Amino acid sequence: MRRVRALVLREPGRPPEVEDLGIEDPRGGEVAVRVMASGVCRSDLHVADGDWAFPGPVVLGHEGAGVVEAVGPGVAEPGVGDPVALSWYWPCLACADCQRGRPWACARTGANDHLQPDGTTRLRDASGGQVLAYLSVGTLAERAVVPAQAAIPLPAGVPWEVAALIDCCVTTGVGAVLHAAGVAPGEPVVVFGLGGVGLSVVMGAVLAGAHPLVAVDRVRAKLDLALELGATAAVEAGDDAETLARVREATGGGAAYAFEAAGLPRTAELAIQAVRMGGTAVLVGLPAQGERASFDVERTVEGSVSIVGANYGRSVPAVDFPRLARLYLAGRLPIDRLVEERIGLDAAPRALEALRTGQGIRRVVVFEPGNPRAPGTVVRS
Ligand code: APR
Ligand code: ZN
Repeated sequence: MRRVRALVLREPGRPPEVEDLGIEDPRGGEVAVRVMASGVCRSDLHVADGDWAFPGPVVLGHEGAGVVEAVGPGVAEPGVGDPVALSWYWPCLACADCQRGRPWACARTGANDHLQPDGTTRLRDASGGQVLAYLSVGTLAERAVVPAQAAIPLPAGVPWEVAALIDCCVTTGVGAVLHAAGVAPGEPVVVFGLGGVGLSVVMGAVLAGAHPLVAVDRVRAKLDLALELGATAAVEAGDDAETLARVREATGGGAAYAFEAAGLPRTAELAIQAVRMGGTAVLVGLPAQGERASFDVERTVEGSVSIVGANYGRSVPAVDFPRLARLYLAGRLPIDRLVEERIGLDAAPRALEALRTGQGIRRVVVFEPGNPRAPGTVVRS
C-alpha cells in the first residue's frame, strides 16, 4: 500500500478536500500511473454538486495524464515509463460494440461503477474505508491504478497539461465534429457553450473546414478566444429568441451542424432550432441527470432534422488520443490555448468553483515536485 494525496468528495454539496489515502498495487490487467497533470472538468462539478448519482466517497478527476509506474500481471501494454493519457470510458474490448470499433457504446464498461474491472477499488482512507476512483481513474490524485485499456500511450514530447486535456474535453469536442457529425469543408456550424469542450468543438470544426463557424457563449472573453481559434462569428448569448435569430443570420439561414456544449436543456433546444433543413443537432454537453428538453416534432420531421447524442465524441481513445497528440505536435490543434492556469492539487476546489461561474476555461492541476516537465510544457500565467 503506497501513500497518495487525492481530492476526495465525501458527499454532494460538501466541498471536496485533499486527503492522504493508501493505494494498492495494480492487480491483473491494471497499471499504476503517477499522475503528472489533471484537468478540472464541469463533469467533476456535476458530481460534486449531486447533479448525478453519488457513488460514495470518491476521488474526483477524469482528465489526467502521467507515467506508468508499475503494471499488474498479464499486462503487455502500456509498459513502465510510458507516458499515457487516461480514458474515462474504458471498454470491455469483448462485446459486439467494442469488436465493431464502437467502444463509446460499450454497455459492459465498469467505468460508471467507479471500480476496477474485478469490481473492487484500490483506494483506502486513513480508517481503512474504501474510496472509489471517479470513472475508475480518479485523476485528481498523485497516483492512480486504472484498467490497462484505460491507459493510452502517447507520443513523446506532449506537455502534461496538453496530454491531460486530450483525455476529456479535446477528445469529446473534436470527436463530436469528426466522428459524430462528420462535418465537411464549407458547411455552416454553430457551437453553443465555449468551455473546454465547446472550444474543442471549435478547433475540430476548424480542422474539418467548417464555414461559417459561429460561436455562442455568455462570456465575452470566451467568444474572443473562439474567434482567435478560428470561429468566423461570435454571438453573445442573451434572450434565446434573439440569440437564435442572430445564429440563423450568421449561418446563412441555419447551421448544417449545431453543437451543444454548455450542458443545458435550453441550449440543447436552441441547437435543435438552429439547424437548417436536413441539418443535425449534436448534443455533447451533459446536464444534470433527469433534465429534459423539448422540441417541435413536426418541424423536426418536416425539416428532416437529426438529433445525435455524442458521448466522448463517439471516439476510440486508443486511436484518437495519439492522433490528437500528433495534431497538437504538428501545430494543427492549439490545445495549449485551453490551459488557463496551472495549479496545485490544493487549489482544485477553487478551480471547480470557477467553473460554476463560467470563469476561465481549463485550470489544470500539475503535480510537483518530481513532475519532470515535458519539453515545451505550457506555462500560462
Ligand atoms: N448559452 C451559451 N453558452 C452558455 C450558456 C448559454 N445559455 N450558459 C452557459 N454557457 C457557457 C458557459 O459560459 C461556459 O463557457 O457554457 C460553457 C460551459 O463550459 P464549462 O462549464 O467549462 O464546461 P465544460 O467542461 O466545457 O463541459 C461542458 O460537457 O462534459 C460535459 O459535463 C460537461 O455539461 C458539461 C459540458
Ligand atoms: Zn470531462
